[in-house]
Amino acid sequence: LPANEVAAVKDTWNHIKHDEVAILEAVFKAYPDIQARFPKFAGKSLDSIKGTSAFAIHASRIVSFFSEYISFLGVENTQPAIKTILNELGQSHRNRGVTKAQFEEFHQALMSYLKSHNMWNNDVNHAWDDAFDKMYFVVFSAL
Ligand code: HEM
Repeated sequence: LPANEVAAVKDTWNHIKHDEVAILEAVFKAYPDIQARFPKFAGKSLDSIKGTSAFAIHASRIVSFFSEYISFLGVENTQPAIKTILNELGQSHRNRGVTKAQFEEFHQALMSYLKSHNMWNNDVNHAWDDAFDKMYFVVFSAL
């Protein structure tokens, strides 16, 4: 990723990275089929689960994963480490039957959240598209 894109991704991520529960809530609200993949949350109303510790723990895992991925961007010699964590993510989600289409849904939901909580323009949008492309290229190879 070019330096200006890395900066745009880090800056906009820093604005929302503490909204762990709100992010997962936005994802489940936009795409109930994602919620349905979670044995702990399937078939329950979003309002009844969003305040639970199980929800907070999972939200924190997802957001931490992104924070780790983003922390590697633009840093030299992190390519092997990035590949390893993304491969593991693909494998663990393949084992749960998660599809590429669902990862794309997740992408759309996270982008919407980012957009509505940041100053947004085409350059920022493009930077995030590149960051997701780079991420999903590896994840999908393991899915
Ligand atoms: C577990 C991250 C997308 C379903 C996890 C974990 C992480 C994670 C870090 C815990 C560690 C592990 O088991 O691998 C992410 C990220 C995503 C993503 C970063 C997108 C880039 C999805 C999608 C679905 C999904 C789209 C469903 C459609 C699950 C389930 C678990 C899980 C069912 C197990 C939860 C449990 O322990 O009860 N995810 N995930 N994930 N993820 Fe994802």
